[in-house]
Amino acid sequence: MNMPVKPVIAGNWKMHKTIEEARELAATIVSGYSRLGRASIILFPPFTAIREVRNTVSGSGIRVGAQNVFWEDRGAFTGEISPPQLKEAGCEFVIIGHSERRQFFHETDETVRKKTLAALRHDLIPVVCIGETLEERDRNLTLERIKAQLETGVFSLEEKDFRRVVIAYEPIWAIGTGRNANPEQAEEVHAFIRDLIASRYGKNAADCAIILYGGSVKPDNAFSLAREKDVDGFLVGGASLDAGSFLAIAGEALRAGEE
Ligand code: PGA
Repeated sequence: MNMPVKPVIAGNWKMHKTIEEARELAATIVSGYSRLGRASIILFPPFTAIREVRNTVSGSGIRVGAQNVFWEDRGAFTGEISPPQLKEAGCEFVIIGHSERRQFFHETDETVRKKTLAALRHDLIPVVCIGETLEERDRNLTLERIKAQLETGVFSLEEKDFRRVVIAYEPIWAIGTGRNANPEQAEEVHAFIRDLIASRYGKNAADCAIILYGGSVKPDNAFSLAREKDVDGFLVGGASLDAGSFLAIAGEALRAGEE
């Protein structure tokens, strides 16, 4: 599976959109995308709409992923979805360890590790989410938390596998709150993540690593965030449900890269 080129703009549709609504949104994004061909766009619809979205974006260069995966290939795991099932539906990516999964479904850094390994085994590119709570930020524990999440969740991977992982820094207090991290706050954590990657896997792996920011990204804050050196793109929630704002965010990220 080819790693996407930077900037990467990913839309996490969460538990929104019926199949028909998903088709419409994907089709509108496809028509706007031809004007912005140099950003990598990845759409993460709900499971039920993956196939339809995959068919709708086919041939456009837009790629598709899932919002979650289980670590076993098959078996008596009612309600779960396996990596081969996602591949068959047309996924190339999968979000792992989103804070909503951690908060509502008790996922941990250890389940992130197992899911990441399972995804890689099946040639799905994991988009591993990490981020601190507001309380951790207020108590100055942000960097410590990020380090622990990376160490348990991904740093046990061999280098060749790590090179096929995308990291998404999503401060929990910024998700769905309208309160984004400001560019300096985002850059501080992104640079810290890149340094950790450099110590673990070397400078080249760190330079190649894709580190996305997520949390209340909107067309009007995308440019200043994307201008930061270590911000390689976005994982967008709410604003990805509207084709106009999602494409505007992609346009701002490209403009920031051209400066
Ligand atoms: P948001 O969500 O853009 O609505 O804050 C981001 C995410 O959860 O990935």
